[in-house]
Amino acid sequence: MEIFGVDIGGSGIKGAPVDLDRGDLAQERCKVLTPHPATPDGVADGVKQVIDHFGWTGPVGLTFPGVVTGGAMVRTAANVDKSWIDTDARALFGGRLGGLPVTVVNDADAAGVAEMQFGAGRGRPGTVVLLTFGTGIGSAVFVDGVLVPNTELGHLELGGHDAEKKASSKAKEDHALSWEQWARRVQKYLAHVEMLFSPELFIIGGGVSRKADKFLPHIKGVKAEIVPAQLQNNAGIVGAAMRAAQQRP
Ligand code: BGC
Repeated sequence: MEIFGVDIGGSGIKGAPVDLDRGDLAQERCKVLTPHPATPDGVADGVKQVIDHFGWTGPVGLTFPGVVTGGAMVRTAANVDKSWIDTDARALFGGRLGGLPVTVVNDADAAGVAEMQFGAGRGRPGTVVLLTFGTGIGSAVFVDGVLVPNTELGHLELGGHDAEKKASSKAKEDHALSWEQWARRVQKYLAHVEMLFSPELFIIGGGVSRKADKFLPHIKGVKAEIVPAQLQNNAGIVGAAMRAAQQRP
């Protein structure tokens, strides 16, 4: 079965039909730039362009970088335009796409379900925590493969600060931190998450997962196994389509 997946990020809106049996894109993906400011209307126009590129007329799963409840309602917008808060994103996108059935999910949750089924978390029981390091820090928590949605562990307090402001990869750039300096912050953050959840496995996602050899060796004293994500660029697209398939009536 194929469902269309769209990953809405800070710089691009990327999408493609997803082959759910293989957990991979069925066609080469299409990307348009995210408008700035990334208002609901502007983003909906970008999503329509991506879908129209394929002439797609079936169900669509989309990611959003904030809390999304019931596959529809946006509740937070830490790093995107605040006008998203309390937007019914399912109604917004569905309307713009001429009534196509739409499911919207948190971006880290989408990446997590894709990793658990087709990547670094495949066949891993117990508590698994996937963390994405990018503009913010996203989280997806699994217990025996089942997702606990919208955990938002990126906003845990760390030394009196919002953790993502200190340990995201944007924080690394903003403060011109070396890999080692940044790894020390990530280590503190992981130790804090470990204290709360005692996971068996941490999966590190986001763009930095490709550079794991630069920072993972500097992370000490965390008991859980720590591995980089495997699906990288397409985890959000694949996971959005998977969640749409799981949440369909
Ligand atoms: C948001 C999360 C999101 C993460 C990664 C955080 O600021 O609150 O919902 O998953 O950034 O985009």
